Formats: sequence, C-alpha cells, structure tokens
Amino acid sequence: MQREFRVGHGQDAHRLAGAGPLLVGGVRVESPRGALAHSDGDVLLHALADALLSAYALGDIGRLFPPSDPSHAGLDSREIVARALDDLHRHVGAVRIENVAAVVTLDAPKLGAWREEIAASVAGLLGITPDAVGLTFKTSEGMAPDHVQASVTLLLSR
Ligand code: C5P
Ligand code: MG
Repeated sequence: MQREFRVGHGQDAHRLAGAGPLLVGGVRVESPRGALAHSDGDVLLHALADALLSAYALGDIGRLFPPSDPSHAGLDSREIVARALDDLHRHVGAVRIENVAAVVTLDAPKLGAWREEIAASVAGLLGITPDAVGLTFKTSEGMAPDHVQASVTLLLSR
C-alpha cells in the first residue's frame, strides 16, 4: 500500500540570560548563559515537539502544556517531546519519522563540536537513527546576540 507523507514544522526562541549550561536537543552545552524559560528552555526540543504535532494539525505544545500551569516550571523538555509523540500516536496511530531537519541560530557558543551528541540525543528521543537528524547551526551575524532560536522541519509517513 502507498504511504501517505506529511510535513511538520515548528519554531521556538528563547532569551539568553543567567548562568549556563544551555540545553540543545537534550544535551547540556557548555555556555556562559542559559535560556530564560518557564521550562528548561530547550528550543530545539520545543520546536521539534511543535513540528510533530503540526504534521497532522494537532495544535501545538501549549495544548499539552499550558504556559499558565505552574506545575510545568523547570520541565524537562524531553518530557514535552515524549508527550507530543504520545499525542500523535493516540490521534493517528503508528507513524514513521522519515527524517528531521533542524536549524539552530545562536551566536555563541559554537555548536559544531556538539553536533553528533545532539543528533544522537534527538534520534534517541524519536526512536530513529542519528543519520536521519540533520542539524544546521547558524549565527545571527550579531543581530540577535541574546537569543537562541530553532526551526525544525520533519517528514512523517504512515
Ligand atoms: O552564521 P554563519 O553562517 O556565519 O555560521 C558559520 C558556521 O559556523 C556555520 O555554518 C556552522 O558550521 C557554525 N556554527 C556553529 N555554531 C553556532 C553557529 C554557527 O557551529 N552556534
Ligand atoms: Mg521554548
């Protein structure tokens, strides 16, 4: 039977402030500043969770984790991805994640040295192989030195 393909897309941004480390894709990256957030501020995982939900028009992570709910303070973003996956499976059944393409925009620190670790972490959360997780790192060319941003596109099929 022919597979049906769906694209998902998500984005997120947080302000850099306070002490590091900075969480990127579930990896604690050495950084003088962390991400200011209600949860642990992992932009890549927030964008990933939104991308998963968007593929089948399931809303966004605010539906599963209302920002107004104080019980989500300091939440581990790996939990957000697990909940998004769970929600996806409950709504549409078994879905295959074909690949993930992510862009993280951050002036400093450089993330290249962490690429393999981040890809392995994201792949582990999704139950796919690291070679299906493409990671692009960009600076803002100094235009947004206090921000970390992530954009994630993924392809799903069933
Ligand atoms: O933004 P720009 O194109 O100048 O980034 C140059 C390169 O630096 C990127 O292609 C990427 O390999 C690397 N980079 C990185 N970590 C960042 C930003 C950029 O490794 N936080
Ligand atoms: Mg976020």
